[in-house]
Amino acid sequence: MTVLILGGTAEARELALWLQERGVPFTSSLAGRVARPRLPVGEVRIGGFGGAEGLAAHLREHGVTAVVDATHPFATGISRNAAAACTATGTPLVRLERPGWETAPGSDAWTWADTHAEAAEAAARLGGAPFLTTGRQSLGHFLAPLAESRALVRVVDPPDVPLPAPWTLLTSRGPYTLEGERELLRRHACDVLVTKNSGGAHTWPKMAAAAELGVPVVVIRRTGQLPGGEVRPDHLATGAWLSARGLA
Ligand SMILES: NC(=O)c1ccc[n+]([C@@H]2O[C@H](COP(=O)([O-])OP(=O)(O)OC[C@H]3O[C@@H](n4cnc5c(N)ncnc54)[C@H](OP(=O)(O)O)[C@@H]3O)[C@@H](O)[C@H]2O)c1
Repeated sequence: MTVLILGGTAEARELALWLQERGVPFTSSLAGRVARPRLPVGEVRIGGFGGAEGLAAHLREHGVTAVVDATHPFATGISRNAAAACTATGTPLVRLERPGWETAPGSDAWTWADTHAEAAEAAARLGGAPFLTTGRQSLGHFLAPLAESRALVRVVDPPDVPLPAPWTLLTSRGPYTLEGERELLRRHACDVLVTKNSGGAHTWPKMAAAAELGVPVVVIRRTGQLPGGEVRPDHLATGAWLSARGLA
């Protein structure tokens, strides 16, 4: 009998620690997207389940008492699969989703985009040296619209597509500080920041640095409400949700 955390986020790692400290059996699941993932405490499994059906089979086989979908707000495929698999197996599901930046300071001055393609167009319109922080998997959307720009691209693992000649690639992993982000924006003379609406505090320093330096920001919206499960904003509220149901 075990809690399954669908992870890949700092919040998922915080919840793993919280469950471990209380002696609650749990397993964390990672997709295996990055070469050297930051691992949570406790048992970890890595790799896809094989769609909603594969996940449902996993829940049955491993006696999973509850699923915590603590995946990134933009990892919508696995969240939909979790909702379907939990419905099919009658497994309680809670979503740990950090609040977005819709009402964050300065958000009304940002350019909000519905898609990566729209964000790429906005970035091309707003500046000539964008700082792209939307991740390796979405880079394809920016290649053509920003091919002539002096883009700075920050990713965890090197992209598997060739980048336009004027682009600068930076492989690194957070956490980042306000001082570091300010220095980076200045050093590369970035004149527009492109980000997903990841939300939370962990990646906020780049937003604060952009605000300080007067650099415009393009933010890609979340897709909206995902199906199934109640939503909690952090690991403590999620832990309380599990405790209230005798699951932790
Ligand atoms: N998207 C982002 O911007 C972002 C940012 C930071 C971290 N992450 C993390 O990176 C992972 C992948 O994100 P994504 O956007 O590529 O996901 P996605 O598009 O929602 O998922 C695609 C497929 O990857 C597998 N998968 C995803 N998350 C998994 C997990 N935690 N454990 C096991 N399998 C998983 C599933 O494969 P099967 O169908 O075979 O089960 C899923 O159908 C997630 O764990 C997410 O939390 C994503």
